[in-house]
Amino acid sequence: MSHNLLKDITATVGKELIDKRITLCVTGSVAASQAPEIARELMRRGADVHVVLSPAACKLISPALMEWATGNPVVKELTGRVEHVELAGDWPGRSDLILVAPATANTIGKIAYGIDDTPVTTVVTTALGSGIPVMIAPAMHQSMYRHPIVLDNIRKLRSIGIDVLDPEIVEGKAKIIKTSVIVDAVVQKLSFKDLESFRCLVTAGPTVEHIDPVRIITNRSSGRMGVAIARETSRRGAETTLIIGPTEIEIPFNIKTIRVDTSQNMLDAVENELNSKDYKVFIGSAAVTDYRPAVSQKVKIQTRNTPKLVIELQATPKIIERVRKIRPEIFIVAFKAEYGLTDTELVRRSQEYLQQSSADLVVANHVGVDGVGFASETNEVFIVDRDLKVTHISRASKGEIARHLIDYVAMKLGVKRD
Ligand SMILES: Cc1cc2nc3c(=O)[nH]c(=O)nc-3n(C[C@H](O)[C@H](O)[C@H](O)COP(=O)(O)O)c2cc1C
Repeated sequence: MSHNLLKDITATVGKELIDKRITLCVTGSVAASQAPEIARELMRRGADVHVVLSPAACKLISPALMEWATGNPVVKELTGRVEHVELAGDWPGRSDLILVAPATANTIGKIAYGIDDTPVTTVVTTALGSGIPVMIAPAMHQSMYRHPIVLDNIRKLRSIGIDVLDPEIVEGKAKIIKTSVIVDAVVQKLSFKDLESFRCLVTAGPTVEHIDPVRIITNRSSGRMGVAIARETSRRGAETTLIIGPTEIEIPFNIKTIRVDTSQNMLDAVENELNSKDYKVFIGSAAVTDYRPAVSQKVKIQTRNTPKLVIELQATPKIIERVRKIRPEIFIVAFKAEYGLTDTELVRRSQEYLQQSSADLVVANHVGVDGVGFASETNEVFIVDRDLKVTHISRASKGEIARHLIDYVAMKLGVKRD
């Protein structure tokens, strides 16, 4: 970690971008106000961020702010130091990625025609010649975005391999896409693709069971752990499908997602996927409701006439057992959440479970403890494998836990890191 005081947020959220040098090119759009946040979110995942501003961007956002945000000097003009070569030339210290965010219609047009008359366009020209990946996030009024030549220019950029992160059309504007989407796209682009030849099916979140049309049985799972796992497998190149129960949390833009509600819907979706594609890995991180009402009432139960209500519950089908039946060869990761146990007891139960179930790996965690399990941002888990070997992953963000878990799965699948 750097000793630069301004870089104290480096890798506080994740390590995905450690040792990555990213040049953030900012052009003259009001969305330049999002640039400090983009820079800092990339830094929070470990990146060293260098900023280049066009003269029009300098009128909208101050170079001092961007220097503060990144802890690095800001390029606002090219000098005898040939900053464009330093950042994007063909030499070992060059950037790993050039991100133009926001990208104006003007800059997009210039890139499309190989014109470079601002520090931003010169850096991009140099990067394209050096084979450095370039990603752009357009932002402009919708009237500009409708101009056929602007759209043509965007197509042209795509045709030469530039990644374009489509804007969102809101309030008559083609607004720059959310920072979280930009960060996901950067992380995905720069990740080592060791799982490229694998398909992964991930379940996440709670399921709900209907007592009547307005009342449900569910649990407090947020889906965060499963989404973190799907994000990790996807960024490492695995074709990933996420089947997720009702949840509010944001899902990465590039992951194929199937939304379900009941445990039966989740099972149906899992079966459908397994029957239609050749999945190598199944990760069952969903907190599937264990019981459902034997009868789900078609009309709302009236409390006035029902002073006491007895609901008969029946067990829901075990998804993992179905998965094993359909795909005998698939690698199955199961999750086990337990309440009020010691670590030793939790591990012992997971070992027992592993011997009785079809899983190849069990990820066990406590629930009902602050900072781990359901609805929490962090987790602490024990991974138990078929040889009953136990690996403890101490408390970390769910993204970090996912990274360790998928490293473990990759190792079990015999994936080589290089
Ligand atoms: C307040 C303000 C906001 C602007 N917002 C945008 C914008 O969102 N998108 C865009 O393409 N141009 C926008 N422009 C126009 C550009 O700044 C102008 O085309 C400029 O020449 C772009 O130069 P650059 O691409 O080198 O940064 C804006 C101009 C001003 C003054």
